[in-house]
Amino acid sequence: CLAWSSASAQGAYPNHPISLVVPFAAGGPTDVVARSLGASMAKTLGQSVVIENRTGAGGTLASQHVARAAPDGYTFLIHHNGMATAPALYRKLSYNPLTDFAYVGQVADVPMTLLGRKDLPADGMGGFIKYARENGNKINLANAGLGAVSQLCGMLLQEALGVQFTTVPYAGTAPAMTALLGGQVDVLCDQTTQTIPQIKADRVKLFGVTTLDRIKTLPDAPTLQEAGLKGFEVKVWHGVYAPKGTPPEAINKFNAALRAALKDPAFTQKMTELGADIVPESKQTPEGLQTWLQSEINKWGVVIRKAGVYAD
Ligand code: MLT
Repeated sequence: CLAWSSASAQGAYPNHPISLVVPFAAGGPTDVVARSLGASMAKTLGQSVVIENRTGAGGTLASQHVARAAPDGYTFLIHHNGMATAPALYRKLSYNPLTDFAYVGQVADVPMTLLGRKDLPADGMGGFIKYARENGNKINLANAGLGAVSQLCGMLLQEALGVQFTTVPYAGTAPAMTALLGGQVDVLCDQTTQTIPQIKADRVKLFGVTTLDRIKTLPDAPTLQEAGLKGFEVKVWHGVYAPKGTPPEAINKFNAALRAALKDPAFTQKMTELGADIVPESKQTPEGLQTWLQSEINKWGVVIRKAGVYAD
């Protein structure tokens, strides 16, 4: 009957645009994934997915915002490993990743690359290691704040090399990359979703990749492990979250749109070009994300406490 179907169509979810919060600056690696994902998901949802960049405190301000947002199915968060590292990095975190969110699913895994400014007087990973040991804190290392994967990578790198650089934090690795291109900072460890175009255009020095094996998109780049940093590995993963209490109907629809996007060539081809791998189906679910998040909190908690890095 017409009256019933029009009433139910009006109330059907979603009936207005959905906000997807990105914890870092526009134009950066997380933003690139979010915008492309949102555009693809909108095709399934029949509503636009509006990207909202909420920067600050290494992604924790955005997480806090979403944890406290109305659980109405119109606010979601895309976040990476930072969701799992924040509890160890911030002693006074205002939210709990394991109790304050509803889970949608994971998206893609992304390698990182270790880069230097174009005119850094060091070549190859061997040259970089020598330069780093000789120059220590005269070297400026850019990152996107405590909780960013650029910070995690930089922290592990300094530990592995036994050096301490001077850290320069930005609101995301988009402005950090601008600083590297302009020669205001020396080194940046950043996701391939932002760095591949700069590497291919030869605007930066590439020292290596942070995965245990070489990657298809940059076959000539050595791994940091190959260059002597045994076991060095940082792989970035992305999850989609909602405030706890979001209706299951909304989570299910958003998850169905997410899974459709992860099969949409418009999204998957872009990810492949940028070095990212779509996660297997088992990780594309709320349970897959929740289980993974718990394991990552355990894993990185140990590493971060050992490094002794934290904010009060
Ligand atoms: C990071 O954690 O370094 C980020 O991914 C930065 C960003 O998206 O800007």
